[in-house]
Amino acid sequence: MSRPTHHPTVVLLGGRVIDPSAGCDGIADLAFGDGRIVDTVDADGPTIKVDASGWIICPGMVDMHVHLREPGGQHKETIASGCRAAVAGGFVAVACMPNTQPALDSVDTLDQVRHRAEEAGLCRVMPIATITRGRAGGTLTDFAALKKTGAVALSDDGSGVEDDEVMRAAGRLALETDSLLIQHCEFTELSAGGVMHAGPTAQRLGLPGWDPRAEEAMIERDIELVREIGFRYHAAHISTARGVELVRRAKAAGLPVTTEVCPHHLLLTDEACSSLDPNFKMNPPLRSEHDVAACVAGVVDGTIDCIVTDHAPHAEAEKAVGFHDAPFGIVGLETALPLAARALVEPGLLSWSGLIERMTVHPRRVLGLTKASSSNEGSLDIQMPADLTIFDPESEWTIDAQRFRTMGRNTPFNDWAVRGQVMATLVDGRLRFVHSRAADRFSMKTSA
Ligand code: DOR
Ligand code: ZN
Repeated sequence: MSRPTHHPTVVLLGGRVIDPSAGCDGIADLAFGDGRIVDTVDADGPTIKVDASGWIICPGMVDMHVHLREPGGQHKETIASGCRAAVAGGFVAVACMPNTQPALDSVDTLDQVRHRAEEAGLCRVMPIATITRGRAGGTLTDFAALKKTGAVALSDDGSGVEDDEVMRAAGRLALETDSLLIQHCEFTELSAGGVMHAGPTAQRLGLPGWDPRAEEAMIERDIELVREIGFRYHAAHISTARGVELVRRAKAAGLPVTTEVCPHHLLLTDEACSSLDPNFKMNPPLRSEHDVAACVAGVVDGTIDCIVTDHAPHAEAEKAVGFHDAPFGIVGLETALPLAARALVEPGLLSWSGLIERMTVHPRRVLGLTKASSSNEGSLDIQMPADLTIFDPESEWTIDAQRFRTMGRNTPFNDWAVRGQVMATLVDGRLRFVHSRAADRFSMKTSA
């Protein structure tokens, strides 16, 4: 009996299928047809067989913190180029930050992002809208309307919401509208023009230091507001040991607090800034060994929920103005998986399943993309959309910024030899990226 599918069923044969949401990790066949995962036992109509041996197949990865720069920053990145980078990095969905020009603080700008993402047609793009109008820190946006237009969260990322009363009002409105607030944790009075971590390296280099207390104090203030009000709160790109400890205690107290960390904050310390290469400059900055160890420990013990990139492309000329004056930010979409593996899997701190969970299930959970509300669930259950990341965990390669799909070349990891390479990315069962090394296996010959 042939199945009533319009497209042939594709069967990925003999891969290591890891689905953290189901607690499964083992060699298996995985089939999909018409964009959805089907039972391999039923895959008896016309099928395309793909040899997946040696590969890991997992639910599609989600990066809940990227900067796609559009509207207004198309000389750094476009939604299309950012999406090409995303799928090349194995991501089926990205949540994009609203610090664009104009900022994503209105229904119109959100619609514009959605149109551009649809035109690109590569991965799911989930906009994050601003908390305050123009990200100016004063007047709240219309959370309910923005949410209705597709905003998955609210954030003034690039800046924190500094004013206590504005943040309290934001927390109340977030509770009322069941919105997630993502905070860029930085009191600028404390970070005070710092361009790198305040520590011995900054002193030696004579560069103004960004005091970690600027992050810690805002996390602390916000957790008190969560205790008072009860809104869902997510601390963006955490970087300090004390910040991690504050989140750990908030979670122990049962508060709806989550957080995320970037691969660079797990792999590099402020000493790397000694080169004065602006590709080591980002906000929050690279920190001390103690902070790095605490972030790693926080990921391992579950205090830190998600790995994100904070993908922040800048034009080459913008970065080429010396460390002090260069803008903050580095790209990350195309290197996230092997770098996270370097920090967590290679030293034996996390299993592949543990890492995948933090790049698939957890970001979806934090954003509230649950079974009921989304077609983008992050499990490999039958009937789920075939959103898949396929990678070769053993493949060794050298990072070459010149070959990135992103328009940004600003990575501190150029020339790093890494292990783990994305072979293919599928969204709704469609092949949105295939690595040249995997092309022959995907040469899609149909057989009955
Ligand atoms: O390094 C950063 N770059 N941190 C931010 O908070 C903003 C971002 C950007 O937009 O370039
Ligand atoms: Zn950011």
